[in-house]
Amino acid sequence: MADFDPHSFRDALGQFATGVTIVTARAADGHPVGVTANSFNSVSMDPPLVLWSLARASRSMKVFEQAETFAVHILASDQDALSNRFASRDVDKFAGIDYGDEGAPLLENCTARFLCRTRNQYDGGDHVIFVGEVIEYDHADKPPLLFHGGDYADKKKRPPLAAGSAATQIEPAGQPVPDSDGDALVLYGAEGRVATITLNRPGSRNALADDVIAALVSALERAEADPGISCAILTGNGASFCSGGNIKDIKAMTAEQGMSPTEIEKWYSEGIQRIPLTLDAMSVPVIAAVNGHAIGAGCDLACMCDIRICNQDAVFAESFLRVGIIPGDGGAWLLPRIVGMARASQMLFTGEFVKAGKAVEYGLVSEVTAEDQLMVRAQELAAQVVQFPPQAIRMAKRLLKDARTQTLPENLAQAATMQGLLQQTDNHREAIDAILEKRKPDFS
Ligand SMILES: Cc1cc2nc3c(=O)[nH]c(=O)nc-3n(C[C@H](O)[C@H](O)[C@H](O)COP(=O)(O)O)c2cc1C
Repeated sequence: MADFDPHSFRDALGQFATGVTIVTARAADGHPVGVTANSFNSVSMDPPLVLWSLARASRSMKVFEQAETFAVHILASDQDALSNRFASRDVDKFAGIDYGDEGAPLLENCTARFLCRTRNQYDGGDHVIFVGEVIEYDHADKPPLLFHGGDYADKKKRPPLAAGSAATQIEPAGQPVPDSDGDALVLYGAEGRVATITLNRPGSRNALADDVIAALVSALERAEADPGISCAILTGNGASFCSGGNIKDIKAMTAEQGMSPTEIEKWYSEGIQRIPLTLDAMSVPVIAAVNGHAIGAGCDLACMCDIRICNQDAVFAESFLRVGIIPGDGGAWLLPRIVGMARASQMLFTGEFVKAGKAVEYGLVSEVTAEDQLMVRAQELAAQVVQFPPQAIRMAKRLLKDARTQTLPENLAQAATMQGLLQQTDNHREAIDAILEKRKPDFS
């Protein structure tokens, strides 16, 4: 590579705002491929030529190299979830999408579409440049999805997703509840006694950058501090739950910033480790609704929650050894307590990717849902939790958490104290009266 600082080079390139496209093609055996790409541009009006470039590492490369046609879709501003999906690996990108029976797959609701005949392929360094001759196109009067500085650039202008819109249907995290600031790193919403906390950096697959960590911790503290909240759901916006720490930032700690062992130790203890400590100290039960990838610290984040469910696209990996480090955020402590030592060891030492089906077999999640049912199910579970008296829910969680470090006599003593308190409450008496009188309880 040229003697550039890769971060500053990427930042410089990121100054160029682009549109976001999905380019699709069909393999000879009929299976569709598609990738999110912002390298699209027009070349010539006569003949009508366009180009885009595809990383040689792309899993779709072979199909694009052999396809006679490809279709470029310029995405509309509300199609960021679709963009994230097609930028993900190990997901069924076309699940639930009607894309036609032959030729390059065609997606709906875009700003413009260009069906192209592959004309030339050029060496583009670590990419291959594809030039296509446009044979058909259509367009709609919709604002485009823009990309700038490593993230979608138009969030503030984007209208809220309409229920039932195409974007809502493909949004695996369900519709997040926006705070007053639609551009927040983490979204916080409360409905009844349930708080929904949504990591909101889909462009980076919800990586746990320093500012995201701080925002997540304060959202969790907000739920815990609100006596009106009795259960929280943690999920990610876009196609991933959380991709963990940003490995380039982690490398830069020593490669560029020359951080000493003590400084790195402090970075962990004052940074990412605040998340497991905050979640561990909470009395409000937290349900992880794992949409898509939960990798490295993202896998550990799910493990920090009390209940884990995932959609069928979910992939977990305790992938730290792949980058020559260990779980710095409690994974080695959490994972064996959930899946047992043998499976935790297998996940840690092999870095294996555990897909949804295997995750449920491992006991890593309790349920797998269809892609668009994840938030529905998470909300159902939360509703079951919050039907109970608030004080009892919080004490039950504490009793369960504290038991990890207690002897049986200590746990029994704590349970007796808690029971002494709970049995004085009106809610306890109301719960019993409601059962005896066969009616719904009315808790305060
Ligand atoms: C906004 C955005 C723009 C992207 N642009 C390109 C691009 O122009 N070329 C490319 O090869 N990958 C690009 N990517 C990354 C690919 O979408 C991503 O690597 C994807 O996983 C490739 O899919 P595949 O490996 O299944 O083929 C982009 C991703 C995003 C989020």
